[in-house]
Amino acid sequence: MQTRIDVLILMGSDSDWEVMREAASVLESFAVPHAARVTSAHRTPERTLEIVRAAEQNGCKVIIAGAGAAAHLAGVVAGHSLLPVIGIPLDATSMQGLDALLATVQMPAGIPVASMAIGKAGATNAALFALQILATAKPEIGEQLADYRRRMAAGVESKDQRLQERRRQA
Ligand code: RP5
Repeated sequence: MQTRIDVLILMGSDSDWEVMREAASVLESFAVPHAARVTSAHRTPERTLEIVRAAEQNGCKVIIAGAGAAAHLAGVVAGHSLLPVIGIPLDATSMQGLDALLATVQMPAGIPVASMAIGKAGATNAALFALQILATAKPEIGEQLADYRRRMAAGVESKDQRLQERRRQA
């Protein structure tokens, strides 16, 4: 029996971690138990399935999967699990993530993947979206999310005040 987790973060390679760490960082700041693993839909298909099965047995509620190039990780995981899967297309080739975006978002009817934006914004939003899913059963996470948005709104107001100040001085 391994440690229970609420969210499993998967990525196709350790070269994806620089972006995928944004998702882990958001989950850490909300103190949500999670794990981050490297596994590939193409290079290690059976291992990918084993990791997903183990996560399901450990209470996982949402899976986040980031991959670049012919990004099939999120879709393959979605095909093997009834857990909600959030895909993050990553910029790993000369196509700057457009290849991964199309591979992630163009799922055939019947096997949904919630596709986020390419790169760090997508990784951040994947974690927030996972938290919103968890919040449907855990109101305390919803309260944390409301606080997160209040702080974000306050940040926009501060930026506006700084802009007004710069313009007054110009
Ligand atoms: C994808 O291929 C991975 O998700 C990564 O974005 C890309 C390149 O992987 P490496 O060659 O760096 O291992 O499967």
